[in-house]
Amino acid sequence: MVDYPDSADLLEPLPDPPEPLPLVIGPKLAPFTPMAHADIEFIKELGNPEQDLDSRVWEVKIDGAETHYALKIFYFNHYGYLSQSSGGYMSRRLASRQRYIDFFDPFNCECRVYGRLKQEEREDLAVRAHGYLLLTPEQEDELCRMIEGIDYDEPVDPDKNGNGTNTWGRWEQHHHLPLRAIVKDLATHPDPFKPAQITDMWKDLEELHGLGILVRDITVFNYYNAKLIDFSRAWTWPHPSLDAITSYHLKDQLQRDPGGLEDVIVEWGIDMRWNWDEVEISQDLQDCASGKGEGERGPFGVDPRLYDWRKWEEDLVAADEFMEHELYAEVEEAEDEWQS
Ligand SMILES: Nc1ncnc2c1ncn2[C@@H]1O[C@H](COP(=O)(O)OP(=O)(O)O)[C@@H](O)[C@H]1O
Ligand SMILES: [Mg+2]
Repeated sequence: MVDYPDSADLLEPLPDPPEPLPLVIGPKLAPFTPMAHADIEFIKELGNPEQDLDSRVWEVKIDGAETHYALKIFYFNHYGYLSQSSGGYMSRRLASRQRYIDFFDPFNCECRVYGRLKQEEREDLAVRAHGYLLLTPEQEDELCRMIEGIDYDEPVDPDKNGNGTNTWGRWEQHHHLPLRAIVKDLATHPDPFKPAQITDMWKDLEELHGLGILVRDITVFNYYNAKLIDFSRAWTWPHPSLDAITSYHLKDQLQRDPGGLEDVIVEWGIDMRWNWDEVEISQDLQDCASGKGEGERGPFGVDPRLYDWRKWEEDLVAADEFMEHELYAEVEEAEDEWQS
């Protein structure tokens, strides 16, 4: 295992004026407003901050409009952590620290998914996202005071927001970066799903795979009325982890979505005391969950790597050049860089 230095090197700043993110090959999500800023009225916290690992989600109103949205505000992640956690299945290293952020940071993972759903006009496959916002230091301060229950007037240190806690997980490399958030429809339906929706959930998941999206986080908390709300762990093709992953880990990862869906259905059904005589989990889902799927799709169902991402690239030569020569570290270079 490579010893990643705890470098103070700053990550790349966000583009000013804002642009669709992330600034790397593949789909991107545009800002919600031209400058990616808005007046935000924080109404109440949703979800469970003890359990939600990548973010805090708030019900908000934006720019004084009546609509209530869900605003998913993302924690920061150290590139070294990402390289060893979800980036740790690869047999190659990426060319730079920033590339781990581009492909594995939860905010960017989610931008890539919603960007793809918009490209393909398939936003019906999930609870909708409308764009990203960057919080101003004042909004971050206000939010931290609400979260940490701070009632004194001095400015809150953004690295040690209130009570000495680093609420947003900032490291030195994130000093210059604002909080990043995604504006989504507010889901209000009380149930994650009902038995009659199981068939559609598997169909939707397979359609996401068909669009090159591997979700990797199928839990009961990530479904509202049978639609997914959370893509912060997703890998969207083209993605180095679907490309340079070892074959052992690839099987494991491809199994996670069908396996996860089957588990979630059973766990939720037991909790809700469903009458199992009236619940049908398709044979196809069961087969794919156990890696016994047959036919063209592959043992775990549709393989996201079959999606033709190149059709969206204006400069195919540059795109292929990037994938072949710029995405990964050259072996010798990598040794030098990571060991210095
Ligand atoms: N669009 C939404 N509408 C209503 N509640 C939401 C919405 N998005 C998230 N939540 C709530 O916030 C929680 C955390 O959101 P999620 O996107 O799953 O974040 P994480 O990636 O941190 O798990 C969800 O489990 C849900 O309870
Ligand atoms: Mg979640």
